[in-house]
Amino acid sequence: MDTLLRLLSDGRFHSGEELGAALGVSRSAVWKYLRSFEGEYDIELFKVPGRGYRLAEPLSLLSYEDCSVVLARLRWELCLRETVDSTNAEALRLLRSDVVAPFVVLAERQTNGRGRRGRVWASPPAQNLYYSLALKIVNGSGGLSGLSLVVGLAVLRALRRAGVTGAGLKWPNDLYVGGKKIAGILLELTGDPADVCHVIIGIGINVNMISGGLDIGQPWTSVRAQTGVLADRSELANFVSESLHHYLAMHAREGFSSLRGEWEANNIWQGKRCTLSSGTQQVKGLMVGIDEQGALRLLVDGLGEQRFSGGELSLRLDHDS
Ligand code: ATP
Ligand code: BTN
Repeated sequence: MDTLLRLLSDGRFHSGEELGAALGVSRSAVWKYLRSFEGEYDIELFKVPGRGYRLAEPLSLLSYEDCSVVLARLRWELCLRETVDSTNAEALRLLRSDVVAPFVVLAERQTNGRGRRGRVWASPPAQNLYYSLALKIVNGSGGLSGLSLVVGLAVLRALRRAGVTGAGLKWPNDLYVGGKKIAGILLELTGDPADVCHVIIGIGINVNMISGGLDIGQPWTSVRAQTGVLADRSELANFVSESLHHYLAMHAREGFSSLRGEWEANNIWQGKRCTLSSGTQQVKGLMVGIDEQGALRLLVDGLGEQRFSGGELSLRLDHDS
């Protein structure tokens, strides 16, 4: 199945004979494979008598070779999967089966991609980036403050290298372009937060997704929608790895305070009126910025400046802002 998709991914015609020879099956078996695979991958396929088969659109599939070359330089291992429930869940399982961090899990698709607070992350096959980096933390989770914001900066740099202009950060860990979400970050901690533990840095980036029947529930965009060209997903994964390596090293060396100014300079709602929600409670105020730990600083109406942090918080821009 994977071989077939790779052969067709260039978007050109391939005869049934050629595909059958590559797979070692008959032409009618190729046709059967392709039928099942159209439904499974939600991919449009053209069949033209005398010419063969071609995909309606070329695909950029992940390349183990291209990604592992860069990761080897960073001394991170690579686990590349075709299908997983969630790359974060897969990273957790690998840690439990004693695979040694640091390692990156990449997948062509997720069947149960997760966002924050149990939300669903839409993860269609062969379109986007589903990336999880597992890291060992030796001195307790105290040194992790601001980590999700640092990851946001790393993803921002990778998007810019891929040609996306106008992207910015939404506290605590989303990336937007022109009011539309292009990427999200989900950090998960496992082990003893006071001692040795692991953090899984999960990153979802919309890369070549441009339309489709996905019910995402809020405006979204992708690298391709922004640049107008099909992006090389392995190259983007490499940009993410290199950029993460750079920012994580800086964070470990100097702490979050050294990156605070850069984060604020890319904050899409800096100086804007926002509403912060936590469960059923809401607080309205002006976003002043973040503090040296990455907590949100909000000038709350009638109460002055207050600071907020924690995984259950959700920030929205006020309509009059
Ligand atoms: P906040 O966490 O501040 O409330 P949010 O509404 O974006 O922000 P998250 O939990 O961060 O919520 O992200 C999950 C949400 O992202 C989903 O509920 C859905 O609306 C949206 N979403 C899911 N898949 C995608 C995707 N591939 N691209 C963009 N947005 C997505
Ligand atoms: C969010 O915005 O809520 C965070 C979305 C994080 C999605 C990524 S995709 C790779 C990794 N695996 C998951 O199941 N989730 C994260």
